Amino acid sequence: MNFETLTGKDIHKAAAYLSANEIVAIPTETVYGLAANALNEQAVSKVFAAKKRPFYNPLIVHIKDIYEVEKYAAEVPELAFQLFETFAPGPLTIILPKKDIIPDITTAGKQDVALRIPNHPLSLSLLAMLDFPLAAPSANPFGYISPTCADHVYKQLKGKIPYILDGGPCNSGLESTVIAFRENKAYLHRLGALGIDKLKKIIPDITYETKVDNAPVSPGMLKQHYSPNTRLLLSDNIEKLLIEHLDKKIGIISFQKSYPIDSDKLVILSPDGDLNEAASKLYAALHYMDALDIDLILVEYMPDEDIGLAMNDRLERAAAKFVK
Ligand code: TXA
Ligand code: MG
Repeated sequence: MNFETLTGKDIHKAAAYLSANEIVAIPTETVYGLAANALNEQAVSKVFAAKKRPFYNPLIVHIKDIYEVEKYAAEVPELAFQLFETFAPGPLTIILPKKDIIPDITTAGKQDVALRIPNHPLSLSLLAMLDFPLAAPSANPFGYISPTCADHVYKQLKGKIPYILDGGPCNSGLESTVIAFRENKAYLHRLGALGIDKLKKIIPDITYETKVDNAPVSPGMLKQHYSPNTRLLLSDNIEKLLIEHLDKKIGIISFQKSYPIDSDKLVILSPDGDLNEAASKLYAALHYMDALDIDLILVEYMPDEDIGLAMNDRLERAAAKFVK
């Protein structure tokens, strides 16, 4: 279908499209999502089509508040409730056994559903107007960098969707942290915007499952994902790479440090060394670099702590496409 893609802040318009089983890009605090009625197979199939997303990859179901969890999840361990009570609305997704009301296409045939309460005023108001939850993956073509502002969505999906609900730039800028429960034990499926330090305050012994690349329980765990088109190298020693690639046009994304290249080809994520600021700017920096006429994007490893772990996780997957 070819649409004239409009961008605006009109939640009534967004609600009208969604109620007619069309798909709409919505803002969240993490990244923009490509939303559809999670209970309607036809609407959800349009999300897979617009994203060119493989049908084995399940979608997160966005709900308006904690009272909705039991509408869609068949069993909710006490600890899952405690996590939602502590961190929702916020960048936390919890995978729980699903109820039949959630169609198989939404969960890619899995018997579990991923639930999240996004922390963005526009999307929360939108959810409050609807009598169904919203299935929404990140609003990027499959495998590409997630969008953190309406313009990123427009550039990637114009013509494919009728409406982009513009909620400004995303505050956290990294996808939600995904946790699964099996036999009452919590497993970390995807590092994300809810920093590991905060999570460990509630679950000190959480088990990591994020590096299992060949059998992706959660396809955000796919080895290669989140990639720009321009070659990306990740390193602790940017100076060495600069010397090795003297013949190439280079862009650099650094955490805090400056490098001797043209200022329009250098993005310093946080001159003050603030990890949250850096996370909120990371994807915009990748989008920016990917649009420049350069041969190579060099990216510094972020500090290996708290949300820096999630940033390095994404960067490693982004670089994996280019590692032979
Ligand atoms: O921050 C976010 O989580 C954003 C915003 C829009 O909410 N969404 C997002 O969705 O990142 P997506 O589809 O790009 O990533 C969702 C991840 C995928 O790795 C998917 O495989 C996993 O969650 N997932 C979703 N439902 C699942 C399920 N039932 N079982 C296992 N993994 C699931
Ligand atoms: Mg995604």
